[in-house]
Amino acid sequence: MSEAYQAAWRESIEDREGFWTRAAEAIDWIMPPEKAYDERRGWFPGGTLNTAYNCIDRHVAAGRGDQVALAYDSPVTDTVRRFSYSQLHEEVCRVAAMLARLDVGKGDRVIVYMPMIPETVFAMLACARLGAIHSVVFGGFAPLELAKRIDDAAPKVLLTASCGIEGARTIAYKPMVDEALKLAAHKVGDMVVMQRDRLPAALAPGEHDWMELRAATASDPIPPCAEMASDDPLYILYTSGTTGMPKGVVRENGGHAVALAWSMANIYGIGAGDPFWAASDVGWVVGHSYIVYGPLIAGATSVLFEGKPVGTPDPGTFWRVIDRHGVKSFFTAPTAIRAVRKEDPEAKFLKEIGTGDCRVIFLAGERADPDTIAWLEQHSGLPVIDHWWQTELGWPGVATCFALGDLRRKRGSAGFPVPGYEFAILGEDGQPVPQGQSGAVAIREPLAPGAFRTLWNNPAGFAKNFATFPGWYETGDAGHFDDEGFLNIMGRTDDIINVAGHRLSTGQMEQIVAATDGVAECAVIGADDAIKGMIPVAFVVARAGVNDAAALHAAVIAAVRRELGAVAALKTAYIVPGLPKTRSGKILRNLLRKIVNGEDWTIPPTIEDPAVPAAIAAAI
Ligand code: COA
Ligand code: AMP
Repeated sequence: MSEAYQAAWRESIEDREGFWTRAAEAIDWIMPPEKAYDERRGWFPGGTLNTAYNCIDRHVAAGRGDQVALAYDSPVTDTVRRFSYSQLHEEVCRVAAMLARLDVGKGDRVIVYMPMIPETVFAMLACARLGAIHSVVFGGFAPLELAKRIDDAAPKVLLTASCGIEGARTIAYKPMVDEALKLAAHKVGDMVVMQRDRLPAALAPGEHDWMELRAATASDPIPPCAEMASDDPLYILYTSGTTGMPKGVVRENGGHAVALAWSMANIYGIGAGDPFWAASDVGWVVGHSYIVYGPLIAGATSVLFEGKPVGTPDPGTFWRVIDRHGVKSFFTAPTAIRAVRKEDPEAKFLKEIGTGDCRVIFLAGERADPDTIAWLEQHSGLPVIDHWWQTELGWPGVATCFALGDLRRKRGSAGFPVPGYEFAILGEDGQPVPQGQSGAVAIREPLAPGAFRTLWNNPAGFAKNFATFPGWYETGDAGHFDDEGFLNIMGRTDDIINVAGHRLSTGQMEQIVAATDGVAECAVIGADDAIKGMIPVAFVVARAGVNDAAALHAAVIAAVRRELGAVAALKTAYIVPGLPKTRSGKILRNLLRKIVNGEDWTIPPTIEDPAVPAAIAAAI
């Protein structure tokens, strides 16, 4: 038991003001906040700051300009480039000048649809410098999804690159952006394209070449760091909700900066000058918090990795990057470790390359299965810490606070409530269930600094998260506390699934499948997968007269890929004679899940047609 952790957690709840006022000292404020929390005004009211200043300028001013801020490691292009804090400052100022030339200022939105290249980080930080609100859209999303985000965020400018490099494949981004712009009702003012040697894009008149615009604005004045109120938005990040419309999580400047500074020091154990690597993508929240903002606020060195855990070029790539950059804490998703293990079951690469100066490995994005943790701990000799979080929170809600001297872990559990978060497991009646029993994982209001306080254009959607259990935020996850206080997160209570650490809505896929020509009805569920944790699987009933099952299968798969994107990873659609339903017409998804996972199943008494499950089992 770590007394430091216990004391920190207790203080964060019982003396919220004292705890977070002290934590806020890690940030350089323009105007210090009047207090830590105000029910109406939120976190750090009255405070003003600039997040990019806290990430860059202040470190340069403190004399650490020569220290490496960003280490770009790209096995797919055979490139390693290091940017010192001074160089990062220069690059970010240049992009800020480019955006200012395009009339981007405080409060304007900028969509960033870019791969894992340094310019993406420059762009995010340049927006933060100007006080513009960036919205990064993950490259694996299809044009229609990008269009939805364009329409919701109504950006002035869209930043993109000519292509992304996905393992051995080069994916042209520009045609996807062009299509998205056609689909969107909102008219984006300007588009800037970072041309990559691998696959340059043809630009239409009026579209800007990144490097040309950079050169053209080279002697423009450098825009100053905008003074932002604590609750001014820093970014919008869209995530899957339970409808086809993504939820635009709004991240505020003040609470976010304080929370990330606290987490770098107390969870990950990273301070100024320490190399840190989160092997995620800047399109996800982990990438925002722990590739870009967290490590830079801490004055650390952040690794930006453009590659995959395997195949770029081999399953040794993680260990090589850790070793090359002297990474002290490493963060990845369980699915990535499972992929490595599949290709290198004896951990030969790991043994040969080692893990350099690394002291600890963190996993998140989905439940880390005990077997994967055991394998990684055995072969790396390092503590492996599973921790839990969500886009809505922006930083971990459940973890073992490694840097508070806590090393307690239990395989299958995500750890303990992080300071700032008070959890309860609630039953359907909204009351806490007895310890050990499963229920809805809920967090007491107010959520810790950094967590969302609204959804972009959708305050009603935000309020819904607090409607089921008044006074509590409903995480959408189910779990239980064990007798030692470990919190076990077991799965979702809604239709969201985690596919290779990517959050997707089966409901949204169902809408797309249902609208495909030839489909009478359908269900999409998450089936277990040895590498990705879960994969979506569709069950499709063909319309009368539609007899070509292979063509229907192909049409369904193509529709989801076209409308949602490759990241959906829907590869299997079973054409079945009917769906198992209750007499009231509810699809028995749990039964479908059991059938497809090869688990034992029985016919529920509420079923409408008892012959259907056996027919499905025979059809798959
Ligand atoms: N741009 C364009 N396409 C992308 C993309 C991007 N940024 N990211 C993924 N895709 C595509 C992939 O190429 C793939 O396409 P395909 O169906 O044509 O092969 C599809 O989306 C699914 O991608 P993915 O789920 O990543 O599967 P994969 O088989 O390519 O790789 C893993 C499997 C496990 C190696 C990979 O998913 C991985 O590294 N996961 C870790 C995830 C992670 O870090 N999550 C962050 C949460 S903390
Ligand atoms: P995202 O918003 O994409 O970060 O996804 C958040 C969801 O991922 C959570 O609500 C959980 O369902 C799941 N998740 C993330 N980390 C973990 C974890 N360590 N254990 C179990 N589930 C997790």
